[in-house]
Amino acid sequence: MKKTSRELLQNTTQLDIECEILLKRFSLSLKATAKGRWPILEERLQQTLPQLLPLYLNLYGERYDCYYHLEQLLKLLARALVQRPDYLLAEDEAPQQWHKSQTALGSACYVDLFAGDFNGLAQRIPYLKQTGINYLHLMPLFKAPEPNSDGGYAVSDYRKTMPHLGSMAQLSELMQKLHAEGIRPVLDFVFNHTSDEHRWAVKAKAGEQQFQDYYFFFDEQERDQYAPWLREIFPEIRRGSFTFEPAVGRWVWTTFNSFQWDLNYANPEVFNAMAEEMLFLANQGAAVLRLDALAFVWKEAGSNCENLSKAHTLIQAFNAVASIAAPALQFKSEAIVHPDEVVKYISPAECQLSYNPLLMALLWNSLATRKTRLLTESLQRRFAIDPYCSWVNYIRCHDDIGWTFDDNVAWQLGINPDHHRQFLNQFYTGQFAGSFASGVPFQQNPVTGDCRVAGMLASLTGVEQAVAANDQPKLAHALARIYLLNSVILSIGGLPLLYMGDELGLLNDYRYTQDEAKKDDSRWVNRVKVSEQQLAQATDASSLSGKIYAQLQQLIAVRSRLVALGSGSTEILQSGNQHLFAYRRQLDQQSVLCVVNFSEAPQPFTSLPASSWQDELTATRYQAPTITLQPYQVLWLTPAS
Ligand code: GLC
Ligand code: GLC
Repeated sequence: MKKTSRELLQNTTQLDIECEILLKRFSLSLKATAKGRWPILEERLQQTLPQLLPLYLNLYGERYDCYYHLEQLLKLLARALVQRPDYLLAEDEAPQQWHKSQTALGSACYVDLFAGDFNGLAQRIPYLKQTGINYLHLMPLFKAPEPNSDGGYAVSDYRKTMPHLGSMAQLSELMQKLHAEGIRPVLDFVFNHTSDEHRWAVKAKAGEQQFQDYYFFFDEQERDQYAPWLREIFPEIRRGSFTFEPAVGRWVWTTFNSFQWDLNYANPEVFNAMAEEMLFLANQGAAVLRLDALAFVWKEAGSNCENLSKAHTLIQAFNAVASIAAPALQFKSEAIVHPDEVVKYISPAECQLSYNPLLMALLWNSLATRKTRLLTESLQRRFAIDPYCSWVNYIRCHDDIGWTFDDNVAWQLGINPDHHRQFLNQFYTGQFAGSFASGVPFQQNPVTGDCRVAGMLASLTGVEQAVAANDQPKLAHALARIYLLNSVILSIGGLPLLYMGDELGLLNDYRYTQDEAKKDDSRWVNRVKVSEQQLAQATDASSLSGKIYAQLQQLIAVRSRLVALGSGSTEILQSGNQHLFAYRRQLDQQSVLCVVNFSEAPQPFTSLPASSWQDELTATRYQAPTITLQPYQVLWLTPAS
């Protein structure tokens, strides 16, 4: 039932009163903990406790010891604030809308593959700056089981790094250096699970009830209240979502690999403990935390345990915690789920940034089909988000490509979504006649027939085939596809994220099949080492890498002088031609009309509102009513006077 405004007012007042009482009750001990930073803490608590409290009560209010845990939480916030370095404290005061700039540009890399270790990475800062990078996601670097840790996504200790990369102190130093160079460091917050070697897991195995309660241990009957509704994430490696743990004699919840144990957030001790780890990472210098696998963090019997409403409450509670102890910290959502669910994680109070898997998957779809209807229709429904927040637009990442799109939109266009996904898998694994792509299948599910695709950008766009066949026209098309994809993520609105190695057109690395620890995970085909030599080719225009890099640099340079491509609004347009994709970016008086031809044939574009246009990419003038786009051509049009 809807509340009347009078009731709401009463509730708000009640909430304020309750927060005031709580603050009074805890203030002595908080003051002692926060020391010289108590005035800051007090002010932030006054501001944010009214947000945090209802969230915490929603999650844990039914527990008799809820307020005890709340007090522990506030104390750890005070401790974290005391430990926050001065340079980050200063950032906490600055507005955090840097991701809206037309020069904001991200990259993601594995430290060892890109630079060997933390010292090596510091030496590559000039390369990052030369490329225009000002946001750098350092992929998981935490202490993890060996040899297989799911690419680092099984964390054994959030406060220790893998020894071959260097120490946590060195990482901290590196992150401070990155800040000083204008590059925001991004770390993973792998909070859905720990590895089975984390000290909590070790204690759970040793029989300590307190730590068994950090995870989900079930007998068969309990397990079966959940199991039938769950999606299998890695079906080739292990069926189901539970692993029998002999030391405990029960089943433990493992959504991903059997050595990744899901954390039980119904336990407030887990929330507090992870909040402390989160703030530790923020205080080491992370400007953004990538919330790994966030769709899975809350479980309820009889549901598919993805995207539950309390998952949102939980993330909002973490967000409120961060606003008190580390306000400059931003969250990036890694929700690779249905588009209707992806957008629900995006709001100033939840995740300010989010991967855009819909755009990613449908760009690949349009390249395969040479048609843009699914892309256009889907984005018209699902591109708009809160203006404070930003999409993180990417083409490739360290993971597979899953064919995420709304089945209903597909049906409306007369596309059978299941058949279409099969086609896409065949196309990108090179099994479809005439396909330009060299990708590999990932996690074929024998029951559902489901499958995803792995591969580097250059291999998936046709460079690998063209180079092998020494076919120049094919190579030209492949390069045009890379240019086209880059142009879209750089102009459609949001923070573009390059996947390290793709800017140089590096190809698939098939050697993972010879490595015992990697051979069952084909995503390693697109986790390639970047050598010194390859980096040097960036500026060698005669090399293939140099050409790909130069094309990208040209796009970045043009983008950086068009403010509308930063904080402007985005309108996805009906292009009037099923091979063309068009959108308009608008900021005050500046308007940029972007048009992309996804086919190998010339295509007319006739939906032009003004009569005279200038393409910012080539400084070419065009006259309405019709512009013909050449194969794979991209236009960034501004009205010419
Ligand atoms: C995320 C990571 C992926 C990992 C999974 C489990 O999806 O991107 O690499 O396998 O989480 O942590
Ligand atoms: C699933 C998860 C996603 C993860 C991927 C790893 O698709 O939804 O979070 O990135 O598995 O392959």
